[in-house]
Amino acid sequence: MTKKVKMIIDKKNKSKIICLTAYSKNIASILDRHCDLVLVGDSLGSVLYNFKSTKEVTLQTMINHSKSVRLGIKKSLMIVDMPYNTYRNPKQALKNAKFVMKETKCDGVKLEGGKKIISIVKTLIKNRIPVMGHVGILPQTDKKFSFKGKKLKESERIFNDTKLLEQAGVFSIVLECVETKLSKKITDQIKIPTIGIGSSANCDGQVLVIDDLIGLSESKFRFVKKYANVNKIINNAVKKYKLEVQKKQFPKARHSFKN
Ligand code: KIV
Repeated sequence: MTKKVKMIIDKKNKSKIICLTAYSKNIASILDRHCDLVLVGDSLGSVLYNFKSTKEVTLQTMINHSKSVRLGIKKSLMIVDMPYNTYRNPKQALKNAKFVMKETKCDGVKLEGGKKIISIVKTLIKNRIPVMGHVGILPQTDKKFSFKGKKLKESERIFNDTKLLEQAGVFSIVLECVETKLSKKITDQIKIPTIGIGSSANCDGQVLVIDDLIGLSESKFRFVKKYANVNKIINNAVKKYKLEVQKKQFPKARHSFKN
């Protein structure tokens, strides 16, 4: 286990783990000052590319954005989502995860799923690739995006998945839209940290999509809190720029070159 990964695990029951997504360098360098973990999420498919589903995100797209994010990160743990269809079996997963680790210099990868992907998770960990789990809503494969743990059978399956992932050696698990009492049960009964998104304050840490948090996207998910209105700030700046160019107030002599 790497020192950085151990630092994340050691936070359990001590202090909350702060995570956010980033898709490029400039944002990543701001997040790095405050976050324990920065995730290059395949949510970039919907946030940046307007894809209907994260299924459309390719490995190369994840690598390109991750390379940019890497430039902005000095101290946080950097985790990259393995996109849909890139970890269908242990052999393919290992080849692709090794490529992602080599190309992006990230600290580990995140895979969606539980029991079905356990042999894949074990293969990556055996090959010293740190893996983060992801249960609850699984955007890569779920048809319905309603919260998880409504029914007993579903709750038991999700709980068992987290136990299996823990036994397989993942260092942390994202709980996406997992019902409040279930997220508490999971967090209390596994030794590795849970990172919640829409899964209540019971989790050991929280993650959000950065564009949602700063009000750049137009997302209206119940679990999002908008901490700023960056859309408005950019809009006002661009409006002012346009006006100054039209009125010939910009550029001034000090913005120009003269022999
Ligand atoms: O893709 C993503 O951004 C994620 C987080 C929301 C957990 O998986």
